[in-house]
Amino acid sequence: MAEQDPQHRRRVVVLFSLPFQGHLNPMLKLASLLAARGLGVTVLHTDFNAPDPARHPVGLAFAPIHETLPGEATSPDSHILTKLLVLNAACDAPFRNTLASLLRDHHRDDDGGDVACAVVDGQCFAAMRAAGELGVPVLALRTDSAASFRNMLAIPRLRDAGYIPIKGKQLGTDMSLRHLQMFVPAEEKLDLPVPGHDPLRVRDLIRVDGCDDDEHCSFVTSVADTIRSAVSGIVINTFDAVEASELAKLQNELSLPAFAVGPLHLLKFQTPPVEQSLHEPDRGCLPWLDGHAPRSVLYVSLGSLACVDRVVFDEMAWGLAGSGVPFLWVVRPGLVITGAGDDDEAPPPLPEGFEEETRGRGRVVKWAPQREVLAHAAIGAFWTHCGWNSTLESVCEGVPMLVQPCFADQMVTARYVTHEWGVGMEVGEVIERGRVAEAVVKVMVGEDGALMRERARHLKMEASAATSSAMDGLVRYILSL
Ligand code: UDX
Repeated sequence: MAEQDPQHRRRVVVLFSLPFQGHLNPMLKLASLLAARGLGVTVLHTDFNAPDPARHPVGLAFAPIHETLPGEATSPDSHILTKLLVLNAACDAPFRNTLASLLRDHHRDDDGGDVACAVVDGQCFAAMRAAGELGVPVLALRTDSAASFRNMLAIPRLRDAGYIPIKGKQLGTDMSLRHLQMFVPAEEKLDLPVPGHDPLRVRDLIRVDGCDDDEHCSFVTSVADTIRSAVSGIVINTFDAVEASELAKLQNELSLPAFAVGPLHLLKFQTPPVEQSLHEPDRGCLPWLDGHAPRSVLYVSLGSLACVDRVVFDEMAWGLAGSGVPFLWVVRPGLVITGAGDDDEAPPPLPEGFEEETRGRGRVVKWAPQREVLAHAAIGAFWTHCGWNSTLESVCEGVPMLVQPCFADQMVTARYVTHEWGVGMEVGEVIERGRVAEAVVKVMVGEDGALMRERARHLKMEASAATSSAMDGLVRYILSL
């Protein structure tokens, strides 16, 4: 029930997220949940990928920051690190100005309530700093797992110790590892355990290939320093049953309160939940799934940002074809790395002969209503990049996973899915059609797949039992600020 306590009404929370699908979804869910608990909520947002206020419950206010974005921030050809750096720089002043003007308005208007805090995207160090400098208490919203967030915070230390870069020649200052690096072949180094980050091996550490290592480290340092110095708490979309121990370590290492409010998409709303997709989902795949037997279809999607090169894409396609398993595949524009000048709106072409080969057995869409797809009885497994939202959505529906992490936190999450929770297996380090077909068959109809499905069913029950007590704790904390 929404609380109507007038004292709550007077406290306003301002939220701001970077304009990525995987960040906007949890932030908008959190905004609705806070509003449902009687807080005033204002969502500040970029003009790019702006949320549509008409699709959100009454009670949420929206204010654009009117940023000017260079093309690099939005082009599918830009590196993810470039996007993050450019967005941070471009949002800094517009966010600061919009928040300052909001604060002035609230100050002038006695009934407008006072701003209790800003909940800011935990990757947007510029906005976190700006809010802090304006005297507003800041909570960082992390849309990744506690394990990957911990791993990100540790990057500078792991780099000093020589674990990073993973395949580079850099020698660390830790003499024992320096010795290892000189005498252990690079391939074996990949399987070394990372102290303090069990079950991660060196190969599972957060990484973004194709960018300058110094630049990556400097971005991470900016985020970590800001969180350590300017933030009053962490809000994180995870839950105890999967990450209790990581959460405890995180809280201990940061000495900050952490509110594990996830899985956000499962929490109940008084007003119907917000579903806002940046792309129009192809709902025609749902009746198509209705025509399939329970657990017979593999759902394949690499999320909203990851891209693969043409060779990998073709091997994925022919592996699917060779498996003989029915599949629903999201092939979105930008999924395949092409190069500037291509039509950003068109999905990449499928390999020649693929459609004929898989006719009647496969369906390819530009974008799927993913949560409904994963909840459909026909889905037997999910071939995923292990974005944190996708992973949580799969876990919450009891669907086992085939993992193909592409960058950043996805590496960490894939390791937890396969080795900590036992609800998934790797497609293979090298994406090759024969191995792909084998892995698909194994997860869909093999004994291993059945075991993973059983564990996934168990996690689903634990996810549905996750209570809203962390949200209650968060609201109490906000009211105390
Ligand atoms: C990436 C990261 O890997 C993630 O962990 C991070 O916190 C945000 O950036 P992304 O590639 O967007 O995220 O993946 P994910 O976190 O899984 O989010 C994708 C969202 O898009 C999910 O909520 C999923 O349901 C939705 N989606 C995806 C659709 O609705 N339809 C699709 O066809 C594909």
